[in-house]
Amino acid sequence: MKFLSIVAIEGLVLASSLFNVVQAASAGCGKAAKLKAGTNTMTVNSKTRDWILTLPDNYNNTKPYRLIFGIHWLTGTSSDVANGGSIQPYYGLPPLANNTAIFVSPNGLKSGGSTGWANSNGEDITFIQEIVKAVEADYCVNEKLRFSMGFSYGAGMSYSIACTLGKDFRAVAALSGALLSGCVGGTDPVAYYGQHGLSDSVLPIASGRQLRDTFVKNNGCTPQSPPEPTKGSKTHIRTVYSGCASDKPVWWTAFDGDHTPIQADNTGPNKDTTFTGKSVWEFFSQFS
Ligand SMILES: *[C@@H]1O[C@H](CO)[C@@H](O)[C@H](O)[C@H]1NC(C)=O
Ligand SMILES: *[C@@H]1O[C@H](CO)[C@@H](O)[C@H](O)[C@H]1NC(C)=O
Repeated sequence: MKFLSIVAIEGLVLASSLFNVVQAASAGCGKAAKLKAGTNTMTVNSKTRDWILTLPDNYNNTKPYRLIFGIHWLTGTSSDVANGGSIQPYYGLPPLANNTAIFVSPNGLKSGGSTGWANSNGEDITFIQEIVKAVEADYCVNEKLRFSMGFSYGAGMSYSIACTLGKDFRAVAALSGALLSGCVGGTDPVAYYGQHGLSDSVLPIASGRQLRDTFVKNNGCTPQSPPEPTKGSKTHIRTVYSGCASDKPVWWTAFDGDHTPIQADNTGPNKDTTFTGKSVWEFFSQFS
């Protein structure tokens, strides 16, 4: 009986998500895009802002794609995320997304010699909104499938996006983050993935827990103190919160390590290969 009722519910969900896909196709669907892949610029709040657009192979303007923002860390650049170097491009997501997503890497503003996401008077949130508009006017995006992820300052900015644009973004992932870019709003439920190192020497894990708990509350999850690996184990533990609104999950990955977006376990089948991209893609790809 249980199995049958689950099948019936899945039928309904499938029918409604197909409907949503049709409803959520952006204005750019069916259009010949003028906006080019690579670096683009726009003026936001009287400042010139630049960002990188990365298209899937064989982009097809009749298919609504996911839109995924990858946001850089303090002193990082849009190129560090889009092209990789110290990390895999876009934190390792593109091979897993397998050409089902359009990626964007925005560039932060320089202040005092470093580039970041101070989001003064909401200007970085406005920048994100303007990029969404520009991409979706020209490219075919499923407007119900917008995502943001980032490390450190980029996690703070992704958190700020969840706070302020929670109705517009399907999910965010904050890697080793803290409250750095503000939280205007902050009361909407948003699917939330948090990840943090136990021994983070830059932004202590307490700051990551604090961000997470905003969405534990907003999403109606049962509060808990998730298990954490023992120090010295070089492993990670992922906790899927219970009690959350069904389409607003919260996942929390605590790892035995420092301030890094490329942590790997030193045991198990994926020894020495970072779990970050795989874990975040598992979170993002559950929404369709
Ligand atoms: C584009 O996608 C549509 C819908 O999935 C498909 O019917 C069409 O064949 C695709 N076009 C190309 C050139 O692949
Ligand atoms: C990627 O997508 C293509 C086209 O839809 C499919 O044929 C292929 O199996 C996919 N590859 C993986 C690794 O999922």
